[in-house]
Amino acid sequence: MICERMEKAFLEQINKELFSEYLYLSMKAYFANLNLNGFVNWMDVQVQEERAHAMGMFDYVLERGGKVELEAINKPQTSWNGPLDVFKAVLAHEQFITSSINALMDVAEETKDRAAMIFLNWYLKEQVEEEANVGNVLAQLELIGDDKNALFALDKELSTRTFVAPVIG
Ligand code: FEO
Repeated sequence: MICERMEKAFLEQINKELFSEYLYLSMKAYFANLNLNGFVNWMDVQVQEERAHAMGMFDYVLERGGKVELEAINKPQTSWNGPLDVFKAVLAHEQFITSSINALMDVAEETKDRAAMIFLNWYLKEQVEEEANVGNVLAQLELIGDDKNALFALDKELSTRTFVAPVIG
């Protein structure tokens, strides 16, 4: 059975993961309006990943005999100053999520919830990957600058990203 403090921490994180899904959905709409379909695809994969992250915790809390009460999701930002601005925001957001998962791990340690620690290891590893992926696109955008041809080449590359349902835990 999950303790109340750990349950509360997981519920807050579920809300953050659902907000992440919402934020990337908003970014997907932004790129669709720019007709950058590869970026749209990249965001679409990101949206699906965030839903999977949220559902992994959702199912876990229930599996541990906890109760899932969902809270309202904040309205995400809806406009940015171009792709570079978007990816700076994505990296900042993923860094925020990483620190938030680290805080969740702190709660697991403080409450001596070893099962939760093992479960959260997956999320910590996933955040390393998330930050690396985003950092890679951001670095390319910084190199591209105002070169439209290079931007379209990157857009084409991002159109190949596919969603693979993660095995969490
Ligand atoms: Fe669920 Fe992108 O962290």
